[in-house]
Amino acid sequence: MTSGKTDTFERIVSALGQPFYRDEKSAIYHGDSSELLLQIPEESIDLTITSPPYNIGKEYEEVKDVDFYVNWCEGWIRKIHRATKANGALALNVGYLEVPGKGFAVPIPYLLWDKTDFYLIQEIVWNYGAGVASKKRLSPRNEKVLWYVKDSESYTFNLDPIRDPDVKYPNQKKNGKLRCNPLGKNPSDVWQIAKVTSGKNRSSKERAPHPAQFPLELVGRLMKGMSNEGDVVLDPFLGSGSTAESGAENNRFVIGFELDKKYLEHAKARLKGRTESIKMLSAQQTLQI
Ligand SMILES: C[S@@+](CC[C@H](N)C(=O)[O-])C[C@H]1O[C@@H](n2cnc3c(N)ncnc32)[C@H](O)[C@@H]1O
Repeated sequence: MTSGKTDTFERIVSALGQPFYRDEKSAIYHGDSSELLLQIPEESIDLTITSPPYNIGKEYEEVKDVDFYVNWCEGWIRKIHRATKANGALALNVGYLEVPGKGFAVPIPYLLWDKTDFYLIQEIVWNYGAGVASKKRLSPRNEKVLWYVKDSESYTFNLDPIRDPDVKYPNQKKNGKLRCNPLGKNPSDVWQIAKVTSGKNRSSKERAPHPAQFPLELVGRLMKGMSNEGDVVLDPFLGSGSTAESGAENNRFVIGFELDKKYLEHAKARLKGRTESIKMLSAQQTLQI
């Protein structure tokens, strides 16, 4: 990793002041993201991956008027834009909300997609199996990720690390050459990734006590596809710290903000656990050499 990238991370960390917790690869802060975002040096973040509150009454949010909510989102998206490098990106995960008198499950992208100076590359559909079973309408089984970039001509896209190895005829050839890339196919814009579940006998291994946790597979695919090793990734709504844990796993620096200290405690525990297992793994590898 070049020292330039480490320097960028350190520059951001010193601009943000005292972190709640930090280690070699991550720094997480307690506070309101709208305020903290302003302290990030301009054009210093490579990629933001985040999932904000959806205004649906989860334990960490108070339902607001839809116009107020949209205005609030526009504000912090603008601040992310300012903090993003010229060739950087934003992966924004959002679900649905009710617009009184107009719609029950209105996709949040319908309200937000063009309220920004970012350029929208495309919308990724995140499809999952488990969820609430509806009686009066179809059971919801997807959320979206809006993939925005600052410059439509210059942005990071790494296809190889996120190729889907599930190819029907991997050995099929044309003119003696394999038709399909041996690493797999393009994963398309519909991603089937299980939600993080809770409950007796069905709880996911990565489950942290947070009601809206990112699966590591989802955040990892976004990180590997839309940034490079050593890049600085931001999550201004960090929750239980999934983005930071994924950063440790995928060799990225992560800056995270979270308003609720109890979630930050969980994020800290996850990061400490991850650091310990990385240390153990490298000690085992050294022993094997
Ligand atoms: C959808 S959850 C994010 C979950 C996260 N992706 C994870 O994997 O755990 C949104 C988070 O934003 C936090 N939050 C809400 N308003 C905030 C604000 N103004 N600044 C920082 N964090 C905020 C909530 O406490 C909640 O943990």
